[in-house]
Amino acid sequence: MSSEDLTRRGFVRAVGVTAGAASVLGAPAIGRAASANGKIRLGIIGAGSRGGQLLDSFLPQPDVELIAIADVDDRHAGETVERVKKAKGNTPDIARDYRPMLDRKDIDAVIIATPDHWHALPAIQAVMAGKDVYVEKPVGHNVAEGKAMIAAARKYNKIMAVGTQQRSSSHFQKAVEIVRSGKLGKVFWVQTWNFENISPTGMGRYPDGEAPSYVDYDRWLGPAPKRAFNPNRFHLLFRWFFDYAGGMMSDWGVHLNDIVLWALDAKGPQTVSTTGGIFTTDDDRDTPDTLQVVYEFPGTMLTYSMRKGNGLKFNGHDYGILICGTDGSLLLDRGGFEVIPDTTVLPYGIRCVHGDRPIRKISLQHESAKGVDGQGAHVRNFLDCFKSRALPASDIEIAHRSTNTCHLGNIALKVGRKLAWDTATETFKNDPEANALLSREPRKGFELPNI
Ligand SMILES: NC(=O)c1ccc[n+]([C@@H]2O[C@H](COP(=O)([O-])OP(=O)(O)OC[C@H]3O[C@@H](n4cnc5c(N)ncnc54)[C@H](O)[C@@H]3O)[C@@H](O)[C@H]2O)c1
Repeated sequence: MSSEDLTRRGFVRAVGVTAGAASVLGAPAIGRAASANGKIRLGIIGAGSRGGQLLDSFLPQPDVELIAIADVDDRHAGETVERVKKAKGNTPDIARDYRPMLDRKDIDAVIIATPDHWHALPAIQAVMAGKDVYVEKPVGHNVAEGKAMIAAARKYNKIMAVGTQQRSSSHFQKAVEIVRSGKLGKVFWVQTWNFENISPTGMGRYPDGEAPSYVDYDRWLGPAPKRAFNPNRFHLLFRWFFDYAGGMMSDWGVHLNDIVLWALDAKGPQTVSTTGGIFTTDDDRDTPDTLQVVYEFPGTMLTYSMRKGNGLKFNGHDYGILICGTDGSLLLDRGGFEVIPDTTVLPYGIRCVHGDRPIRKISLQHESAKGVDGQGAHVRNFLDCFKSRALPASDIEIAHRSTNTCHLGNIALKVGRKLAWDTATETFKNDPEANALLSREPRKGFELPNI
């Protein structure tokens, strides 16, 4: 099956055009057996901020049990045990190291909500151990990790769903349907953005120190380079450092660009060029606080803009997606969408030279929808795919491509020139320096297995 087919199937399933019950992973189309009591037995790896949010959606599901927790922070694991006891009545096992969890035969699937640099290794080891996986976005720390995750999911015939949950929101699905229907006319200009003001101190500057005794800090570092503990480079704030993540570009940009690729039915851009840097924030971060990334697609351009030194909203939104066509625009975020018809004009110069002539009338109608949170539906989609063996709405391959747009944006900033991207080989054309940034050497002992 071509990857294009996969994208289309993902789209078709998510917009509900077909039930999508067929087996596409090669496993039987009949439901996969769960435990004797019919429940899907889960483990969670990384029970921090996002892990907790995911449990808000997983624990209320009647066909789910959570029986194991792995977190390098004993406090996070302990708090999660108490939550599970309250919600489900059982006491899950806890461990700092997730590997024994993967050896357990009674665990069917794992949720992975570790920092970005810890997505690929446990996800790959989990599918090799026979588990389905729900892994958070962005897909990996770099392009090579994402490719390895796809290869592992396919080879071991496992579901690997990614936490780009907007794909399961009905208003995002409807918005994508409108763009794809051609109603906006020729789509040629797309803007995504994140604006807020954290200037000038941001998270501040903190000295390195001792890691807390309740944390296995070496395991937290995992494949990232060894360095002293610093609270600014740890829980939650790791996302502002290239050793662990990709800054705002991949933290938030992935959600926005994911919808754009879906709406454009594209695998990736043809080129990328980025300008930006750290202009307004005096803190420990090494990822930009100001960014302008321009992607070219055939006949369409996408700009991702990000600033952390000024919070002026764009079209009334501090983040969002604006898709412009020759007949009108679609403005979209988690709060809803609006279709705004355009008006053509006959400019002064043309009128002077050619005289008045009729202008094109646009028939597009104004339309809007309120936002619908897709998180619960996204989790349900994963659990349903566990049973049906159909590809999930945010299959690893789809989310990998969306994540790539973020890696590409950051790589173009690092090398400081416009890059040409080959979506088939997932390499830059004629640019060894940029291609070297598609992967990184993991710390010894944390290499990805051969797939
Ligand atoms: N889909 C979304 O909307 C969304 C929202 C927020 C965060 N996220 C993603 O979720 C991930 C986690 O982000 P967060 O904000 O929860 O960070 P966090 O720091 O609050 O939580 C990460 C947790 O993982 C644990 N951890 C780290 N390494 C581990 C390892 N090797 N084994 C087991 N546990 C380990 C940490 O101790 C911590 O409890 C990130 O990749 C982030 O991008 C997604």
